[in-house]
Amino acid sequence: MAADTYLELVNSGFTKQVAKRLGLPRPAKLRRTDPSHVDSPLAPGPVVVLGEGSDADTLASALLDWDVDVRRTVTVGTKVGAIVVVLTDIVEPTQASQRVLAAASMLRDLVPSGRVITVSREAAADDPAAVAAARTGVEGLVRSLGKELRAGATANGVVLADGAAVDGVSALGTVRFFLSARSAYVDGQLLPVRDGGQAPTDWTRPLEGRVAVVTGAARGIGASIARVLTRDGATVIGVDMPASGDALSAVMNEVKGVALQLDITADDAGARLVEIARSRFGRLDLVVHNAGITRDKLLANMSPDKWDAVIAVNIAAQLRVNATLMAADELAPDGLRLVSLASTSGIAGNRGQTNYAFSKAAVIGATRALGRDLAGTGGTANAVAPGFIETDMTAAIPAVTRQVARRLSSLQQGGLPVDVAEAIAFLASPQAGGVNGQVLRVCGQNMVGR
Ligand code: NAI
Repeated sequence: MAADTYLELVNSGFTKQVAKRLGLPRPAKLRRTDPSHVDSPLAPGPVVVLGEGSDADTLASALLDWDVDVRRTVTVGTKVGAIVVVLTDIVEPTQASQRVLAAASMLRDLVPSGRVITVSREAAADDPAAVAAARTGVEGLVRSLGKELRAGATANGVVLADGAAVDGVSALGTVRFFLSARSAYVDGQLLPVRDGGQAPTDWTRPLEGRVAVVTGAARGIGASIARVLTRDGATVIGVDMPASGDALSAVMNEVKGVALQLDITADDAGARLVEIARSRFGRLDLVVHNAGITRDKLLANMSPDKWDAVIAVNIAAQLRVNATLMAADELAPDGLRLVSLASTSGIAGNRGQTNYAFSKAAVIGATRALGRDLAGTGGTANAVAPGFIETDMTAAIPAVTRQVARRLSSLQQGGLPVDVAEAIAFLASPQAGGVNGQVLRVCGQNMVGR
């Protein structure tokens, strides 16, 4: 993986001063988790909860249970770790003003890697225009504020859907994720949350006792997913191509998991996964479909083998494996959790990647449909859409393009595999049971739109 030397330079000694004087972009070192430790403290300073309705009071007292330094107001000049703006009660756009402007007055006191989190309600199909306007307006606020914040701070929103309660497990779990270092590279994102989910017995090991399959676990994002899921309490069955067998064994030895050399495009891939999970552990709670390939070409120059290989690995194999796993649902007593790797290319499109973007948009379509199929079983299907992540895959991009790609995000840098892994671990957790059929971007907000 190629190091981001520019980021290192503008954060150290003399070169930091030079960059400052020249007005060069200065990407911040982000507050991140260390997979070998639990993440504490939750927020890098006091958390100010703004809002006038009862939901703001409810949320503020729920946060107190996590030993967070919760405030309802602060004097100018007080350093603030996070600002939570509760907007669930607004029914017309002018009602947002007071709270948003109160948050604005604190932004200069937000600490590095601080957080602004909105909590609002989803606009429903039958909402009157004023209500729909107020609720949808929050999306524009969050996406624009994400682009304004500096020093590693992010803006994200929890969107309560279908009348979900502000202190529901999944709503609180999502606030917790956004507050924490686990969401370091998630920015400008609004995540719809329904009632549901279960509070883990131990918030630092929410996946205790669960068995997870991670495909493509030999390196890059997949290896990081294996480490983070293990830290969170899961036992991991890591899958990768026979050619990556040594690297896979090394990762699985490190996490005390099980290595399975398997090409996921094989007809019997699903059956092999079920067999190993059943015989070794008697359960299979979670599958992370991470294995993926690129074969970039402009469509005018696309060969059948390049198109077909990408579709086969990135989406067709997943669909077959999922069908087999859903038929063996007795292995997932609490409901099957599926998390797939999409990509911002599948949302925004990317020149030279029609095959890849087709496959990744297809992942999003499948995720929505599977989320519907799993609803009510305790299971969920979600996807993460990484932007530019520093891995072997992106190290292959020409140097100049790579530098540009890094600076395109609101955080002015690429993400790390651990950032994607943390988002996946959150979506796989019991507390995220009310997050279903969703796509969570992990892109430092390097694109417009959902
Ligand atoms: P990578 O190329 O470093 O690792 C992918 C792993 O999947 C490799 O170990 C490979 O051997 C394995 N794999 C490939 N085909 C397989 C098959 N048929 N059966 C079993 N294993 C197979 O990739 P990276 O960067 O870690 O990406 C992981 C996932 O994240 C992919 O789905 C990728 O499309 C997605 N992604 C990555 C981004 C990035 O910036 N690195 C951005 C957006 C999405």
